[in-house]
Amino acid sequence: MIKPHEALQNSMSFAHDYNLQIPILLSPMAGVCPVSLSAAVANAGGMGSCGALLMTPEQISSWVKEMRESSNGTFQLNTWIPDPKPIRNLKHENSIKKLIAKWEPEVSNPPDNLPSQDFELQCEAMLKANPPIISSIMGLYPSQFVSSMKNNNIKWFATVTTVSEAIEAENAGANAVVAQGMEAGGHRGSFIAENASENMVGLFSLLPAVVDAVKIPVIAAGGIADGRGIAASFLLGASAVQMGTCFFRSPEAKIPRVWAEKLNSTYPEDTITTRTFSGRLGRSLRTKYALEASSLKAPSPAPYPIQRHLTQNMRTNAIKTNNLDGMQAWAGQSARLALDISASEIVNKLWEDTKSILG
Ligand SMILES: Cc1cc2nc3c(=O)[nH]c(=O)nc-3n(C[C@H](O)[C@H](O)[C@H](O)COP(=O)(O)O)c2cc1C
Repeated sequence: MIKPHEALQNSMSFAHDYNLQIPILLSPMAGVCPVSLSAAVANAGGMGSCGALLMTPEQISSWVKEMRESSNGTFQLNTWIPDPKPIRNLKHENSIKKLIAKWEPEVSNPPDNLPSQDFELQCEAMLKANPPIISSIMGLYPSQFVSSMKNNNIKWFATVTTVSEAIEAENAGANAVVAQGMEAGGHRGSFIAENASENMVGLFSLLPAVVDAVKIPVIAAGGIADGRGIAASFLLGASAVQMGTCFFRSPEAKIPRVWAEKLNSTYPEDTITTRTFSGRLGRSLRTKYALEASSLKAPSPAPYPIQRHLTQNMRTNAIKTNNLDGMQAWAGQSARLALDISASEIVNKLWEDTKSILG
């Protein structure tokens, strides 16, 4: 049984190992990772993050350059392990297009060559940028890349959603695992896409089970949004926390206001998990598109990334027109706790509250 002061010490020793003042990591969030947010979190003593999934090698290297110009703090680069090449079914895609056309008449076409971003080139660019940490989601890096990270003294944090994935990650050489509870905003990181909705494990069960199963540090993620959640995670054995949604109302996150403002009135049951934006399961606000496209009457979503391409125009135009209902408005189940203050104030408040709970 871990005592409160031991839980705090454990997290401070993790922070020390990774040159942090505060064991709070900003979630790597593809599409929502402006340098402004990472720099604010890192300058407050936490860890910045770049979700590089949608970035070209040049964009990865300019993100890192700008980050280094804005902060001396620690940051991680992150990308997704690719799923097997999806099988196209044009007839089915057409039925999905009809549904999407209700929201955006100009439905986008997936390119012939999928995936459109090159995983190997992203890995090369991440290595070249030489960050302190590279993290993964949706699977494990190939062993050759793991060796390259180790040769360059780059640490690897692997996102896991089950105990068996955590054991696989430890055996593959991960330096820490990010245990992602199903409360998390954004995509669920199951190694196998088809397992995502079946293996919906909540953080209260996942975290102690993973802590008991592996020897490497465990970082808790999913629905953590205030000092209570951080303290509870540390008492359940986490060495650090990774948080995304709780920063969305800060000006540095730069998400559309209509999305940020909705969070304040979002109860846990006002988010849903759905494959209708990208083809991979993710947690979003309960918007009209998400609900209608997830209904039993709707055609089932195409596999990732076909569905992501099909919804591209809808999502882009929804942002342009400030229409929440067509946006891919990811949000974790604790969205309501996100505060409308600067990201550095959020980090400081989270940490003060955690310390006052754990003594
Ligand atoms: C908008 C958004 C995008 C995300 N993109 C990624 C990603 O590219 N890579 C990744 O490892 N995790 C990604 N995640 C998941 C986060 O790493 C983390 O698990 C999640 O933010 C934790 O839940 P919370 O948002 O409730 O704090 C994303 C989450 C959100 C909200």
